[in-house]
Amino acid sequence: MVRDQSMTTTEWVTIEDVLAGSHTNTPVHIRGWIYRTRSSGNIVFMTLRDVTGVLQTTIKKGNLPDKEFEDATKALIESSVQVTGTVKEDKRAPGGYELQVTGVSVVHFAEPFPITKDQSPEFLLDQRHLWIRSRKMTSIMKIRSTVVGAIHAFFRERGFYEYDAPVLQPNQCEGGSTLFEVKYYEDKTFLSQSWQLYAEAGVFSLEKIYNVGPTFRAERSKTSRHLSEFWMAEMEAAWMDLSDIVAIAKDEIRYIVKQVLEHNQKDLEVLGQDVAKLERIAATEFPTITYTDALRILKEKEGMDIEWGKDLRTIEEDKLMNHFESPVVVTHYPLAIMAFYKPPDPKDPRTALCFDMLAPEGYGEIIGGSQRSTDIAYMTERLRQMGENVKNYEWYFDLRKYGSVPHAGYGVGVERVVAWICKAENIKDTIPFPRTLLRFRP
Ligand code: 4AD
Ligand code: MG
Repeated sequence: MVRDQSMTTTEWVTIEDVLAGSHTNTPVHIRGWIYRTRSSGNIVFMTLRDVTGVLQTTIKKGNLPDKEFEDATKALIESSVQVTGTVKEDKRAPGGYELQVTGVSVVHFAEPFPITKDQSPEFLLDQRHLWIRSRKMTSIMKIRSTVVGAIHAFFRERGFYEYDAPVLQPNQCEGGSTLFEVKYYEDKTFLSQSWQLYAEAGVFSLEKIYNVGPTFRAERSKTSRHLSEFWMAEMEAAWMDLSDIVAIAKDEIRYIVKQVLEHNQKDLEVLGQDVAKLERIAATEFPTITYTDALRILKEKEGMDIEWGKDLRTIEEDKLMNHFESPVVVTHYPLAIMAFYKPPDPKDPRTALCFDMLAPEGYGEIIGGSQRSTDIAYMTERLRQMGENVKNYEWYFDLRKYGSVPHAGYGVGVERVVAWICKAENIKDTIPFPRTLLRFRP
């Protein structure tokens, strides 16, 4: 049972404000959860956490009613509490401040918390609903919130409309092998692999559109970069070509990094990220190279001989990125290994008018995008080769029949960007409840 705490009348102070010195020598009310606690005789050292930080408190018998002191000695970690006390500067306390407590109200006595020190990643994934309270996860989730907020702000400031596509889609976008099939009444359909095809219909009225939405891929790989359910931030625009969207993509990523630097300094510190490095990246122009240049760099600097026409694998992307501190745009991949909607470059038809953006330090591809083919015969042939039922794409081909225009777009992997910015070991840490080849619980 949770006790009623007449929450409306009390003024609650955040731990962040206490640590900023805004309440020194003043009585305050703080609420949160017990982060650590230990008692010795007539004193309890209780560290509290709220969304803004952690604060050390000292609870001395005699400074508060005995019953409250008893409760404080009994309350286990993760119990929810409301405390009253006076803020004192104390150089020895973490953060430089301590609360000398004059009142404790335990809102809920927690049972022994299942998560203790040094537990395996698998155990923490089983306990995900509890582990998301950890400082690490809290910092990552705050950064994720900034990243998604920045994406919305970036596009809205530039006159893009938010536009939604169906999540249930009868067709593939990025290849049939990673589709999740869904029973649809007596029929079947798939979960969205991308917003793109439906976005292409939208640009004929709204011209410039974007979206941040859930995306599903039945990835058979167990890498630290793949989720089965992730969030993609996509844009699509009429009258734009490859160079236009590459410029926007670079601006977008720099904008996101700047927003994180502005709002999440403390979180970056908690995560051990190098803030100065991110600042340098936010201030630099990201290089653009071609796929062919990438193969040359791999050969000359890494002694890796990749046959022209092969896709860059994780290992090659990582080796390539050894030579860059900032993200890099790679354009003109071989047409034959690209999705059906990517057009050949008229100047070199073996290559597609497409790009990926790769992040440094092993985070791999964070963006994929391209100009869109307007050649119905070409796309039909590509889909046939893939064994697709071309009938399902007739609506998409219609978009090329009624006032077709050059258009282009790209998709940002939100979790990949968050992983890179947070220096996360695994992409699973960048989403509250990860779904992967091996896990869809809790
Ligand atoms: O390169 P992709 O497959 O591109 C598309 O889906 C295009 N239709 C987007 C567009 O042009 N509108 O995916 C885009 C990005 C990748 O660069 C990667 O960052 C991320 O989505 N991504 C994944 N992130 C996590 N887990 C996965 N399984 C991912 N697959 C792709
Ligand atoms: Mg891609």
